[in-house]
Parts: sequence; structure tokens; C-alpha cells
Amino acid sequence: MDLERLRKEAKKEASLIRDAFDLERWRIKYLGRKSALSLFFTSLSKLSLAKKREQGKEANAVRHFFASLYKQKKEDLENNSSFPSPFIDITRPGEKIHQGYLHPLTLILRNITDSFQKMGFSIIEGPEIETEYYNFDALNIPANHPAREMWDTFWIKSKLLLRTHTSPMQIRYMETHQPPFRIIVPGRCFRYEATDPSHEIQFHQVEGLMVGKNISLANFKAVIEEVVKDIFKQKVLIRFRPSYFPFVAPGVEVDIKLKQEARNKIQDTNEWLEIMGAGMVHPDLFKRMGYKNNCWQGFAFGLGVERIAMIKYGIDDIRLFFGSDIRFLEQF
Ligand code: FA5
Repeated sequence: MDLERLRKEAKKEASLIRDAFDLERWRIKYLGRKSALSLFFTSLSKLSLAKKREQGKEANAVRHFFASLYKQKKEDLENNSSFPSPFIDITRPGEKIHQGYLHPLTLILRNITDSFQKMGFSIIEGPEIETEYYNFDALNIPANHPAREMWDTFWIKSKLLLRTHTSPMQIRYMETHQPPFRIIVPGRCFRYEATDPSHEIQFHQVEGLMVGKNISLANFKAVIEEVVKDIFKQKVLIRFRPSYFPFVAPGVEVDIKLKQEARNKIQDTNEWLEIMGAGMVHPDLFKRMGYKNNCWQGFAFGLGVERIAMIKYGIDDIRLFFGSDIRFLEQF
């Protein structure tokens, strides 16, 4: 075996050692039990005594050389900061894992749906692309009705549109279910209107529909009080204002007012804030569904989700919800 060549090769490879892993690989290759040098020592036993002595001496010199090279390299690694440290410094602060955030609308929607579920409401979903029939006609808003002006509409093509509210699901649900029932329908709505701090072209509503034999506006008030209390974690003042929607009679607009200390910049003037339209389901709708007349009554409402989130978190511009500004989203 050419010990001189082995020595040169080991020296060259040692100069390439950069970290503890390289060093260990090098040690195994040149000083390990299965290294060429070890095998050479084993093969010496077959030689004559004189040759054994001569070659053994040479091989020992090479082994000493390797051992001191190894020691030297190990020290270099430990002392020289330009080598990456072979040790893990457990006292170093870890790198922060960047976690995602739930969107404020997701948080508030979960909050709202949880509250209604606690009171036995089922959660139903409906299509965002609707027909003119469900969005308008079946809700007592025929083509020539001035109330259509209340909902500026994105028409896709004749008779198909992006739903302007979640109310079409009242009809879709009643078509296939018999009372009594109580449901909520969370979902996205679209309106063809100019945006401003309180209006977006897309926003979310939670529709509610509770139908039974003796359901009244008093029941509606109790349910809404409970939900609003659950969302804002305090008792909130509620007021009904008369309003008009062709699919309810009577129709109301619901306003809320938080206690002084819970108010934020959106509410610094102590005013009432409108959060939804509602009312008692119009008997026409029951008739259209084939429900027996005069037997059922119920309430329906359409709650603006962004509105609630703005009040709860003190957000003064609805456009922030869909702006994808990470500085805004990180705050929730
Ligand atoms: C309706 O959409 C009715 N469907 C509500 C209803 C349901 C009445 C059931 C009776 C029975 P309105 O257009 O007022 O009503 O909208 C309801 C809520 O949606 C508003 O109070 C508001 O919070 C929210 N909203 C309406 N338009 C926008 C918009 N452009 N941007 C953000 N939120 C909006």
C-alpha cells in the first residue's frame, strides 16, 4: 500500500473540512476501524518480522500524523468562528413561526353563527348566483315594483344575477321544508353601488327565518337581544324603527346603541347604529309556499355582518375588509 499517497490524500481532504459533519466523515475514513490504514495494520500479520517492523513503523507514523491532523482540525472548528458551530446553542431565541390570522369577518361570522346555534337555529347556505325569481319576484318584488330600486343589481344575463341579499334563501328553504323551523343563512351579497366608508360592492349578511304557530316580533326582539349581547359581551340597547320591505309586514329596521365605555371611534357621537332589516314574514310568501293560511307566522331578518364587525372592532372604513392590507389583518 502506498502510505505516502494515503497521507497526501488525507491531508488534502482535511483542508476541505468545513464543519463537524465533514470532520466526522474524515475521521471514519482515515482513522476508523474499516479505514485503509486499519486494514493495512491487519495485513501486516502476514509479513515477516523484519518487514512487519519496517512497515509497521511507517504506518504508525502515518497514524500519528492523522491523529494530530484530526486534533488540529477539531480545535480549528471549535475556535474559529468562521466555521459554522457544530453545536446547537439552546440559549438562542428561536425563530418565530409566522402564523396566519383569522380574518375579522370570519371571527365575527363564527361568533354570530355560534350564538344562533345555541338557540337552536340551523345553518343553511345558498347560491351567490341567483335567479331573478328568487332574488325578487318570489319576495313580492315584481319587475315593475319600485322596491327593486332598493337593490342595485349586478346582472349576469337576463334572469340571472349576483344575489343582492340573502333573503332568496327564505323562499328556497320554505319550498322544501314545512314549519316549524328556525334557520340562519350566512353568505356573501353583491350590490352595484359606489363604495364609500360604509358601503361595499360585496358584503356579508346573515339571514334569519323562524316560523311557527305563535312566533311574534317579541320573540324576534328576545332572540336579537341575546345574540347582540353575546357578540358585544354586554347588554346593548335595541330599538325598532318602522321600515318597508315587500316581503315582510310589518317591516322594521333594527338599531343598537352600546354603553358609553364600550363605544369606539365609529360611535363617538352616541348615535343609534342600524344593523339590520327585519319584519314578520308576509302572508303572501306562506301562500306561495302552499302553507295553510292563518296557521303559521314568523319573523325574518337580514343582518349586515361588516356593520357588526366595524362596531365591535372600531373599524371606520368597510373597504379595509377586502383590501388585503396585512397591517390591518394582523390586528385580529
Ligand atoms: C335587506 O337586504 C333585506 N333583505 C333585509 C331583510 C331580511 C328585511 C329579512 C326583512 C326581512 P337592506 O338592504 O337594508 O335589507 O340590507 C340589510 C343590511 O345589509 C344593512 O343593514 C347593512 O348592514 C347591510 N348592507 C346593505 N348594503 C350594504 C353595502 N353596500 N355594504 C355593506 N353592507 C350593506
